[in-house]
Amino acid sequence: MDKLIIEGGVKLKGELTVSGAKNAVLPILAATLLTDDACIIKGVPDLRDTNTMIKILRSLGKDAELENGTVSVSNLKKISHVADYKLVSTMRASFCVLGPLLGKLKKAKVSLPGGCIIGVRPVDLHLKGIRALGTDITIESGYVIAKAEKLKGNHVYLGGVYGSSVLATDNVMMAAVLASGKTIIESAACEPEVVDLAEFLIKMGARIKGQGTPVIEIEGVRCLHGATHTIIPDRIEAGTIMLAALITRGDILIKNIFYKHLGALIDKLEEAGASLVKTENSIHLRYKKPLTAVNITTLPYPGFPTDMQAQMMALMSVTPGISVITEKIYPDRFMHVAELNRMGAHIQREGPHAIVEGVKELSGAPVMASDLRASACLVLAGLSARGKTSISRIYHLERGYQDLEEKLEKLGAKIWREKE
Ligand code: EPZ
Repeated sequence: MDKLIIEGGVKLKGELTVSGAKNAVLPILAATLLTDDACIIKGVPDLRDTNTMIKILRSLGKDAELENGTVSVSNLKKISHVADYKLVSTMRASFCVLGPLLGKLKKAKVSLPGGCIIGVRPVDLHLKGIRALGTDITIESGYVIAKAEKLKGNHVYLGGVYGSSVLATDNVMMAAVLASGKTIIESAACEPEVVDLAEFLIKMGARIKGQGTPVIEIEGVRCLHGATHTIIPDRIEAGTIMLAALITRGDILIKNIFYKHLGALIDKLEEAGASLVKTENSIHLRYKKPLTAVNITTLPYPGFPTDMQAQMMALMSVTPGISVITEKIYPDRFMHVAELNRMGAHIQREGPHAIVEGVKELSGAPVMASDLRASACLVLAGLSARGKTSISRIYHLERGYQDLEEKLEKLGAKIWREKE
């Protein structure tokens, strides 16, 4: 296993182009199961998670290859309806093959995803949604076994105790596009990645409207054809680099982003006193003066993204003042608190809140990554800390950030890998 070493204190300067969105490409790759035709997906980041999804497609009978950011998917043999535990258990998002398998084959056997370090990660809303379309569901030895004589459109409310669900919305949408009649998903997730999936499905011949709003309407069609699609930029990678510019007091031009996907983060950074110059598809962040602490509450889109909470905590840990960070999506998503405190941060956890008292500077230390976004938080902390930080278990980071250390090195960071 590798660890990442960072010599902190360098002001990052230069330009960075953001890669395609991990959380858009995963359901879009799953959606290729809805057609026997070939599909071409462009702008695909070369990540551990995208390669896992490609392996899952192959295990189901597809031929899928990632080459220079493009995935070509076609049918190799008859598609199997069984997504096995070995692969699904390595990545929760694999559960989003359930909807397309059901839509295309009217049956599916998908391993229940485990929980993960950020929370229990239930799938009750996924099952509620596909059951509403006329599916019989049984749970047997850790698998969801779903079958439907015929999928019939229905009106389903998909709001849960923590609000809307991104992948449940995706799963129900991908089953409904081949159901007979109309499906209305109420309390649908509005994330840009859900919109990107809907746009891909529409290119395949699906009839969808309302994507990006809490009410999505789907008129079922008989079959879908192949399509070519370019993935939207990764707003979470963009946000992470924006915070890297601020935490290192640097000057970075971030290209290939839709700043309208970053409204809540930009609003909070401007409230904290950051100056950002925005164009349609770039943001220029130049550190000008010390920021002030702000309070953060994570909410479903367009609220402040939970996937930026850990990174924002790193920035607030070296910002003068008190910042209260409330995690409303995954109340246990605080594994990074203990690691930041090892670096000299003053953070106290109180249930779903973390009280962050900004300190003058962090000190480099050996720390351990626990999940994807906590790893990004520790990279930001290491870039800012005095001295050397070593981050172990960086396979978490590789799940969601393509070539992050090369990108940071190009911006001047002193960052390299060593064997554990
Ligand atoms: C997606 O996960 C993202 N993953 C997550 O990003 C992201 O944190 C999350 O949405 C929230 O924005 C992908 O898109 C691959 P949810 P998803 O269903 O769809 C609860 C990252 O770092 N819930 O929107 O699995 C759930 O426990 C990852 O890139 C139910 O109660 O998340 C959570 O509290 C981490 N029942 C809330 O809803 C369900 O059936 C939102 O989860 C489903 C979810």
